[in-house]
Amino acid sequence: MDMMSVRPALSGKTYFIRTFGCQMNLHDSERVAGLLDACGCLEAADPAGADIVIFMTCCVREAADQRLYGQCNSCKSLPAPPSGTRVVAVGGCIAQRDGEGLLTNVDNVNVIFGTHAIAHVGELIAQAFEDGGRHVSIAEDESLAAVSMPWHRETVYHAWVPIMTGCNNFCSYCIVPYVRGREKSRPFEEVVDEVSALVRSGVREITLLGQNVNSYGRDRYGAPRFAELLRKVGETGIERIRFTSSHPKDLLPETIDAMAETPAVMPHLHLAVQSGSTRILKEMNRRYTREDYLDLVRRVRDRIPGIALTTDIIVGFPGETEEDFEETLSLAREVGYAQAFTFIYSRREGTPAAAIVDPTPHEVIQERFDRLVKVIEDTAYEFNQGELHATVPVLVEGASKKNTRVLQGKSPKNQTVHAPIPEGLNIEDLIGKIVDVRVDTARTWYLSGTVAGDPR
Ligand code: SAM
Ligand code: SF4
Ligand code: F3S
Repeated sequence: MDMMSVRPALSGKTYFIRTFGCQMNLHDSERVAGLLDACGCLEAADPAGADIVIFMTCCVREAADQRLYGQCNSCKSLPAPPSGTRVVAVGGCIAQRDGEGLLTNVDNVNVIFGTHAIAHVGELIAQAFEDGGRHVSIAEDESLAAVSMPWHRETVYHAWVPIMTGCNNFCSYCIVPYVRGREKSRPFEEVVDEVSALVRSGVREITLLGQNVNSYGRDRYGAPRFAELLRKVGETGIERIRFTSSHPKDLLPETIDAMAETPAVMPHLHLAVQSGSTRILKEMNRRYTREDYLDLVRRVRDRIPGIALTTDIIVGFPGETEEDFEETLSLAREVGYAQAFTFIYSRREGTPAAAIVDPTPHEVIQERFDRLVKVIEDTAYEFNQGELHATVPVLVEGASKKNTRVLQGKSPKNQTVHAPIPEGLNIEDLIGKIVDVRVDTARTWYLSGTVAGDPR
């Protein structure tokens, strides 16, 4: 079945997508929405009003599985949808990992589509409407069809641009390489052309996506071409370039140079460290030491003074001792992170770390986690003080949740910034615009100030 043949079965149906997990999933959801739009479907505001309910799932940590079962079950008590029949579909990483097995845990799910089957979601859902049966597709598709499909963006000013899928790194705790497969880079010209088209359609900021963007191109061209890609994308007229994630072991000097020399590349680098202990890093199969990481941070800061560094940290990796953990605390202080995503280690069946037995009680791990959160709060607060009294260009995202007369947006360093909306302007006039904000207050998680000059 192709898109044209499923159109009659889907046209006029409403859909609702709930997304969990990382930016890959967020972007995959945009592709699914784009495909359903192309089949004549309409987005619904909530699951109760939707003929099609889709869960885009994540299995990077354990709690997600139970939450998914709960969400699927809660669809049973929703009122009947507009068309009379509701199709519940599960996509993303749990779908890819469990496939048919998921059907036994959730009895009201009609469609299961894996991370390689996004291009087929329309036909699977159409079949479910037609025959009332259950349809599963998790086969590895060798093509990159899904990343070239139409897509439905959440905002007009920002776009996620996947440059590669999969991961080759096999960090010992991580499930991602098993569910997303090996690294597969998109063609260089295709990415550049896509960004050029986005610029023409009014997009001002893009985020290049991959589990390890630093190795972009290695599978396709025999050597990484990420530095070259940054420079080329920087010539398209896009105003702000961000990227995630960047594995420390693969961040080349030429990439740091490209970041420093491409004005559109924002002064922010997400560089996941995971642990500050060389011993634990080895156990994690990260392939760098504490010293390598700190040396890299020094080199990045030399080339890009003032850059915001953010990270991911895991607490409670099996066998982590108090001494190991304290090395993580001291590294976080030394780097002075602007933000960090902190996680308690979650055992993932099938990964090498799952076999390591760890007697450390949960309370000890939780207490360490809380200490780390406090240290990150301190470093984030300190980092933000650096912007006090500065004027920062803010890309406006919308109104603050607490006050509709206050705008909220992002600084180049990815800090959240608040400022009162100038008299005579509405938030609708400002969304997607860049305004200069003179910062007069710097807190842990945001800056605030006053708008100076006209939006542009
Ligand atoms: N590829 C990215 C990188 O290496 O920077 C990370 C992608 S992963 C989806 C996001 C984060 O989840 C990781 O950086 C890690 O901190 C965390 N994570 C992965 N597996 C985990 C596990 N088993 N338990 C706890 N946190 C985990
Ligand atoms: Fe997971 Fe490591 Fe790959 Fe990131 S680089 S997705 S943490 S295996
Ligand atoms: Fe989760 Fe899959 Fe992303 S496991 S973090 S949604 S790659």
